[in-house]
Amino acid sequence: ASTLAAAAQQSGRYFGTAIAAGKLGDQTYTTIANREFDMITAENEMKIDATEPNRGQFNFSAGDRIYNWAVQNGKRVRGHTLAWHSQQPDWMRSLSGSSLRQAMINHINGVMGHYKGKIYAWDVVNEAFADGNSGARRDSNLQQTGNDWIEVAFRTARAADPAAKLCYNDYNIDNWNWAKTQAVYNMVRDFKQRGVPIDCVGLQSHFNSNSPYNSNYRTTIQSFAALGVDVQITELDIQGGSATTYANVVNDCLAVPRCTGITVWGVRDTDSWLGANASALLFDGNGNKKAAYTSVLNAL
Ligand code: XIL
Repeated sequence: ASTLAAAAQQSGRYFGTAIAAGKLGDQTYTTIANREFDMITAENEMKIDATEPNRGQFNFSAGDRIYNWAVQNGKRVRGHTLAWHSQQPDWMRSLSGSSLRQAMINHINGVMGHYKGKIYAWDVVNEAFADGNSGARRDSNLQQTGNDWIEVAFRTARAADPAAKLCYNDYNIDNWNWAKTQAVYNMVRDFKQRGVPIDCVGLQSHFNSNSPYNSNYRTTIQSFAALGVDVQITELDIQGGSATTYANVVNDCLAVPRCTGITVWGVRDTDSWLGANASALLFDGNGNKKAAYTSVLNAL
């Protein structure tokens, strides 16, 4: 195979990227994105502040631009993200208690209703656990509405669009030895035991010197999969762009049948949220394939 998507398809997987609506007029960008990737995540355009800028008033213009570009080019779409402490509009950040809880439910219904039947998987809840050794939930406004907010989000999401896979997505849950990983693992196990609807775990996999790739990544993927959920690598980037590390990530996913696909968090280094100097992606600022690209293609 000569593209990332075609190579991933050989094992029934996808290879995706984050797309920014503001770059869809950049022909170098769209040429690479259209050629190499078959799964699309909106980098910001389906987040809470973008889709519900005013309470009860939804705006899907930028999200739809990405959705339509993807589908017109034969690609599937991951939805990102419905319940998150970050990128909340001011009106939501000012709410608390039962009104915030209801706003979360209304938001999930509004956005999933608009895209009903059209989304491969939704990141229903994003980044709900704290970093460090506590294994605790992150102390967010959503958490303060009650510990059951995550399962309420998932139950709401299942009813809103039964066709979408429902994912829990987070960073720093890649290393099996970390407390945060264990805490998310325990939550997913509990959800499966109690019948709370959850279909997948998204490992963001932003690797850097503080959160480096560890060879126990494969154990993490295997362990989540053994709970009966798919695992998706949802926001992959590797500071420094090590070709070896990129190959390790691909090999670890391919070793687990329920690791269903990999998404990188941007097309070129100049598109990365980390800045071009991080050299974290598969194409350089001119759109040339980097060593990491070849390494990924060969591993798939
Ligand atoms: C980032 C985007 O890439 C940036 O453009 C934006 O300014 C902030 O959010 N985890 C996530 C993503 O789940 O939504 C974040 O995306 C990166 C970290």
